[in-house]
Amino acid sequence: MTMPQPDPQALAHSAVLAARIGDAIRADGGWLPFDAWMARALYEPGLGYYAGGAHPFGAGGDFVTAPELSPAFADCIAAQVGEWFAHCDPVVIEFGAGTGRLAAGVLGALRALGRPAHRYAIVELSGTLRAQQRETLARLVPEALDTVEWLDALPATIDGVVIGNEVLDAMPVRLFEHAGDGALDEIGVAADDAGGFRWAARPADAGLREAVAEALRAAVRADPYGDDGDGAQAADVPWALLGPGRYRSELGLQAAAWIGTVGRALRRGAMLLVDYGFPAREYYHPQRDGGTLIAHRRHHAHGDVLRWPGLQDVTAHVDFSAAARAASDAGLALLGYTSQARFLLNCGLLERLAEATRGGAVDPGSVRALGAVQTLLSEAEMGELFKVIAFGRGLPPVPLGFVRGDRSGSL
Ligand SMILES: C[S@@+](CC[C@H](N)C(=O)[O-])C[C@H]1O[C@@H](n2cnc3c(N)ncnc32)[C@H](O)[C@@H]1O
Repeated sequence: MTMPQPDPQALAHSAVLAARIGDAIRADGGWLPFDAWMARALYEPGLGYYAGGAHPFGAGGDFVTAPELSPAFADCIAAQVGEWFAHCDPVVIEFGAGTGRLAAGVLGALRALGRPAHRYAIVELSGTLRAQQRETLARLVPEALDTVEWLDALPATIDGVVIGNEVLDAMPVRLFEHAGDGALDEIGVAADDAGGFRWAARPADAGLREAVAEALRAAVRADPYGDDGDGAQAADVPWALLGPGRYRSELGLQAAAWIGTVGRALRRGAMLLVDYGFPAREYYHPQRDGGTLIAHRRHHAHGDVLRWPGLQDVTAHVDFSAAARAASDAGLALLGYTSQARFLLNCGLLERLAEATRGGAVDPGSVRALGAVQTLLSEAEMGELFKVIAFGRGLPPVPLGFVRGDRSGSL
């Protein structure tokens, strides 16, 4: 299947954004770090992929997320949130709420559990998505609409439960390339003569070098079969981990900063984040020498991320060890880390399914529903690549979703 070409109107939209980013590159001396390029490609007001009126979600869009696939996903998130509501304010703050399906499902399921949310705040950067979320909520849970509000920015203090599905992977990343023996470049973006972009390397600055070093130390530390290292060894950078050849990867510094900011604002409650990714040991594995940066357009995943800014999603996997480090620095406890499949099973996905299909009716609707659940659970699809991580302050340990199969030790 070949990727469909954007229509002329979409190409014109992309050209306006490309020209604007090109101007920024020239104003900055001909080079932008990749996170600055990615921020503009995704979030430039009125033009970026998530801010320009594109319709990324669902069969007619560019990708499908778990809440769009099956209502069972929101039911399981609600089971976990409901458990936490016994210990903190019954408030949810969702970041990057997409079409509003997860919000609607969680609000409905919490009511059904007898633990309704008193307030459901959505932090959404895109005006188009806000409108879509309001429409979804009005259609699916009109009775809960008056508890929902939209926020422009992060609240200064948070009491309740923060949730984010596939939000960390949409945060801009820095790129580095190691050429053996500690030789480190930062990969950024230059403008080409035809109005497009090309990769351009510069020697990494001290800040990036230290951030890469920290990620690699975590990768070595987390290796249950490797040398844990004493104080002296920990001061060295295990460059050898990346092998002798060229090794390119990413650092999710903005995601870590975001977790730190939300974590410091959280007074009593939890953060529940779902995304694709790995612990540092797997992320910075010698064989993953091209990194995880990828573009999504019309259900094609491809490596041509600098093409068509504004018309395709650009994303990188999450380093969950770095996420845990950021949360710990903010004083949060790690409450659990496991695969999406294990989390959903722990939250009673199969019991929910059995209830839904009681009576044995095998109509096309229930066959579709079973297929969607299979996609959420299957190791070959979302079940293993996607992980769930939870942090908290003032909450009891071992939440429902992590009672079996917790992998916190791998971080
Ligand atoms: C891949 S989409 C996922 C949407 C939705 N959660 C779902 O599962 O369908 C990523 C979303 O994260 C949002 N996002 C990224 N950074 C954010 C931030 N700092 N605050 C709030 N939303 C953010 C983007 O605007 C985008 O809507």
